[in-house]
Amino acid sequence: MAEPRIITIDGPAGVGKSTLAKRLAGRLGIAYLDTGAMFRGTALALGEGAWDWPEERLQAALAALRFSLAGTGADSRVCLGDACLGNEIRTEQVAMWASNIATLPAVRAFQKQAQQAIGRTTSLVAEGRDMGSVVFPRARPKFFLDASPEVRARRRLLQLREMGKPADLEEITASIRARDHQDRTRAAAPLVAAPDALVIDTGPLDIDGVFAVMVAAVG
Ligand code: DC
Repeated sequence: MAEPRIITIDGPAGVGKSTLAKRLAGRLGIAYLDTGAMFRGTALALGEGAWDWPEERLQAALAALRFSLAGTGADSRVCLGDACLGNEIRTEQVAMWASNIATLPAVRAFQKQAQQAIGRTTSLVAEGRDMGSVVFPRARPKFFLDASPEVRARRRLLQLREMGKPADLEEITASIRARDHQDRTRAAAPLVAAPDALVIDTGPLDIDGVFAVMVAAVG
């Protein structure tokens, strides 16, 4: 069997990684691995306050979690045990819990081995914060998408309005800034571009513009 192909997409919250990862995976006919969903699923399974648990309790709870990946392209789903993760993980609260547990070395070590195990059997567009820098250092190409918190908050506001959900620009900007700060300053695998990543400033580009740059790099 040919070795699985791994392409990575990293960047801060709300930069368009998921949309682009799904599109790229769909075009290549391979799976999309949403590692944010793995952190969110872990946070929800462990529950509030898990970031303060003693190491032993945390390790035991992590050891009971079994992640897998189903489907390809936009239909790829992260599954935990027998159930695939859905909208229950898409809340601001679960996002903040995920960011909290993502600071813990035990959680990062567990996620890394679960993600690498998936990548050994399936070609992937792997999306997250440390895919190119830590989890898949041999991936080619590696993308790092960036944009200012203000640009990302405005995009998120439009998305929420389109879904008919109430949204406040100041609140969204504050929440993006808080998560950015925590994700970029944590000691364990902080959000940074890998030295060999192609950094794309998505500020001046729309989704089609960013996708065109990525497709050209994938070849
Ligand atoms: O991409 P997202 O918003 O679904 O990610 C939720 C949180 O999970 C994010 O704030 C940081 C963490 N995360 C991480 O630390 N490393 C990853 N590879 C993916 C997500």
